[in-house]
This record gives sequence, structure tokens and C-alpha cells, in this order.
Amino acid sequence: TKSYSITLLPGDGIGPEVISVARNVLVLTGATEGIEFKFQEMPVGGAALDLTGVPLPEETLAAAQQSDAVLLGAIGGYNWDKNEKHLKPETGLLQLREGLKVFANLRPATVLPQLVDASTLKREVAEGVDLMVVRELTGGIYFGKPRGFKTDRNGEEIGFNTEVYATSEIDRIARVAFETARKRHGKLCSVDKANVLEASMLWRKRVMAISLEYPDVELTHMYVDNAAMQLVRNPNQFDTIVTNNIFGDILSDEASMITGSIGMLPSASLGENGPGLFEPIHGSAPDIAGQDKANPLATVLSAAMLLKYGLGEAAAAERIETAVLDTLDRGFRTGDIYSTGYVLPFIHSSPSSLLPRWLKPCIFI
Ligand code: NAD
Ligand code: IPM
Ligand code: MN
Repeated sequence: TKSYSITLLPGDGIGPEVISVARNVLVLTGATEGIEFKFQEMPVGGAALDLTGVPLPEETLAAAQQSDAVLLGAIGGYNWDKNEKHLKPETGLLQLREGLKVFANLRPATVLPQLVDASTLKREVAEGVDLMVVRELTGGIYFGKPRGFKTDRNGEEIGFNTEVYATSEIDRIARVAFETARKRHGKLCSVDKANVLEASMLWRKRVMAISLEYPDVELTHMYVDNAAMQLVRNPNQFDTIVTNNIFGDILSDEASMITGSIGMLPSASLGENGPGLFEPIHGSAPDIAGQDKANPLATVLSAAMLLKYGLGEAAAAERIETAVLDTLDRGFRTGDIYSTGYVLPFIHSSPSSLLPRWLKPCIFI
């Protein structure tokens, strides 16, 4: 049997709840596909702060770097919101992305037939949506310098950040996006703010330059404000979207709601080499943490992306995706994808114990 080492980073809030389900699903899938997983759980985020005083302990990063793939739950919570920047859970996540050099973040948003009516958009607008946001993940305003707080001449406190992109950073994410579009429907929309921001002007120029290597991909450009509007007006116009770190953060949350729930959407973060980082796009949902209400499917589908993109185990990944669809077909819903007219007795009831039981027969089919 094949064997892979997986670093599990449960994190905070609903993170441990969704990770435990995804771990079960990986074990079940491995059993049917002849794959063995060696899991190592490590602390990150608030959990790591409480345990070690830092949001990304060296041991956690080292374990992640040495494993075949990393599966993360979510980080953050009220307890640590007032911490200084370097002691925030979110800083640990950014350090992890930087430490793993995972610059390309793939965030698919697919409207599943089973969930069309969970979308906040009209059925005819939402139906058939299948898009991929390729978000640059280790550059831009999240990492740009100078940054910080200072006091200006008038004695007023100011906070400042810098949106900065180097040609090499744009070129490599553009290539990932063109490759992704090529494997999908051959359409790439680059989203920027090139009418205002220099970093975006360079972004557009480089994406156009790289497009010469991909004459088979149809490239368009859109300003981010328009893109935000177009996503709710007619999301079916999009196939693959490539954009910078912060626009990708915002647009992928927006795209998630078209599909019915942020609790459904996975992501894969990849670098040139080394292990990939796989995580749901949602956060630690402190409002429902500890109540066993969290939808684990975003993390389960992230485990599928881990198999497909991280380990090249496409058949095992497909098994999980199919099991998720079967499970939805059989009526499994958590509260976040509840919609009026679809009242089932187990809504709001215990996804962590119920979902594995629902998924299990589907995985073994
Ligand atoms: P959030 O994604 O945690 O929650 C937004 C809303 O969606 C909440 O009402 C929540 O209950 C709901 N929700 C999210 N995931 C769900 C799931 N799987 N099932 C059911 N409902 C779900 O975003 P937020 O409230 O803005 O942030 C909370 C904390 O999470 C903050 O500390 C933030 O920094 C952090 N955060 C972390 C990540 C990450 O770890 N990658 C991502 C986003 C936010
Ligand atoms: C995400 C989150 C993170 C981000 C935060 C928690 C640092 O919102 O993964 O989308 O902004 O990238
Ligand atoms: Mn986000």
C-alpha cells in the first residue's frame, strides 16, 4: 500500500470539529483505495498561542514542511482579536502560507444541483455556476512593506500597508491561472484595479505578456468593483478568475454564497514544489463553535483537493466528491444550507457524528 504523511492543523473554533470529520473520511477512502495516511496533529493559530505563546510554532512549520500535504481547519477567535499583530492567530496562518511558499490558491465555487435553492440568487442565475478563483496568496498588501503604525506630523496615529507585486510574482500566478483555465473551459478573467493602482497596472501588463504563451485561452480583464457586481448579476459568465491576494479573498467569499454556503467551499494552496496546504475558505465560525453545527463538507472537499492536487490521487479524490454528492442526494443538510421548503429533522443536529455515518456507505460504493 501507498503511504503518505499528512499534517493536520485543526486550529480554532469549528476547526477541530471539521478536521475530525475530514480525517475520518480520509481514513475510509484510504481503506478502499489502498492508501495509508500517517497523520500528525500540530497546533496553529489561537490554539498554538495558548500552548506556546506564538501562532505558528517552529515545530508546526517544520512538521508541515516535512509532510506530503497539510490539511488545516481554521484559525481565529474573540479571545485573540485584540492581540498585537505578531501575536494574532491570522498572522500564524500567513506565516504558514509564506513558510510553505504556497503562492497559488485555487478556490472553486460550484453550484451543485442539490443546492441550487440554497443560493441567495434566483435559480436561473445560480444554476450551472462552476468557476475557479485563482488567488495570489503570498504577496500583495498582505505582505507588502512598508507597513505598520506611526504617528504623523499632527500627532495623529496612522496605520499603513503597501500593495506591491514584482513581475516574477505576477508571472508565476498568471501561468498557474492560464494552465488552470486551459484544463477547464479555456476562459480566463483577470481582475484588477488597473485604473487606479500601479501594482494593478503592472499586473495587467504581465498577465497580457504571459497570455502570449497561451493563445488557446481567451483572456479578458475586469476591474474589481465591476467583477464584484458581475458575480451576482451573471456568475455564469465566469470560468477561471485570476486576481491578487486581497481581491481574491473578498471575491471568493462572495462567490461562495452563490453556491449556497461558505460551509461548502474548499481550497488548495500550491507552490512550485513542496507540500500543498488545503483548507476550507471559511473561518473558525466562533458563533457556532462547540455546538456541533458546523458544516464539515468544505473541509471534506479540501481533503479531496489534497488527494487530487497534493498527492496526485485523482481516483480517491473523485470517490470523496461522489460521496459528498450522494450524501446531499440522500438529504443530509447542516443549518448553513438550510433553505425554506427544505425542512429535515436532522438540520442543526450533530454533523460530526452523523456525517461520517452518511458518507461511509457512499465511500464504499
Ligand atoms: P467565518 O467564515 O468564520 O464565519 C462567517 C459566517 O459563516 C458565520 O456566521 C459562521 O457561523 C458561518 N460559517 C462559516 N463556516 C461555516 C461552516 N463550516 N458551517 C456553518 N457555518 C459556517 O468568518 P468571520 O466570522 O468573519 O471570522 C471568524 C474568525 O475566523 C476570525 O477570527 C477570522 O480572522 C477567522 N478566519 C479564519 C480563516 C481561516 O482560518 N482560513 C478564514 C476566514 C476567517
Ligand atoms: C482566508 C482568510 C484569511 C485571509 C485570514 C484569516 C488571514 O480570510 O483564508 O480567506 O485573509 O487570507
Ligand atoms: Mn477570507
